[in-house]
Amino acid sequence: MNLILRQLNENDEQAFLEGAKEWGGESPHWYSFIWKEGMAFKDMLEILHKENEGIDLAPDRVPHTMLYGFLDSKIVGRVSVRHELNDYLRKRGGHIGYSVAKRFRNKGYATEMVRQAIEFCKNRGMKSIMITCADNNIPSWKIIERFGGTLQDQVWDEEESEMLRRYWITI
Ligand SMILES: CC(C)(COP(=O)(O)OP(=O)(O)OC[C@H]1O[C@@H](n2cnc3c(N)ncnc32)[C@H](O)[C@@H]1OP(=O)(O)O)[C@@H](O)C(=O)NCCC(=O)NCCS
Repeated sequence: MNLILRQLNENDEQAFLEGAKEWGGESPHWYSFIWKEGMAFKDMLEILHKENEGIDLAPDRVPHTMLYGFLDSKIVGRVSVRHELNDYLRKRGGHIGYSVAKRFRNKGYATEMVRQAIEFCKNRGMKSIMITCADNNIPSWKIIERFGGTLQDQVWDEEESEMLRRYWITI
């Protein structure tokens, strides 16, 4: 599969805006935590850069790298790699969070993005990563278990009113 998972650069504006437009109905944070209609692309890149470097972070944020999955010139989804955990992420969120646009689902793209994200973590020197997902999110926990995820526990998430699975993957 020729899917490439990488950070955005200044040449990706068109692909990014197209991806945002075609994200379709789902919560926009699954595409980007930052971008809002009308925002300059270069301003978003600047924020992503700062978040990656841990500069000017809000107290509840940890440094993270946002990686986008490119198939040819189209963005199919994204993975956020948190460099460390805080209390919130330890409860829900973990080290990596991923999503694929609806029209690209069930084609193996999330599996490939997570495979490359694990490589990214390994290259950063991370030894194990936590991933959480809703108990009823079958595609997500299939992916986690495919990469050797060990179930730590299942907990009730008050915020989303759902059971949550918390896994660890040794890398
Ligand atoms: C979860 C999500 C990323 C999966 O993306 P995807 O590209 O469709 O996943 P894949 O195609 O790689 O499929 C992963 C596995 O789930 C299975 N699967 C996919 N859709 C499925 C469905 N609707 N029901 C059951 N299994 C399904 C696939 O067959 C595959 O299993 P396999 O490897 O045994 O064949 C996508 O549904 C999504 O973006 N959801 C919203 C955001 C989200 O929930 N993110 C995860 C939170 S951590």
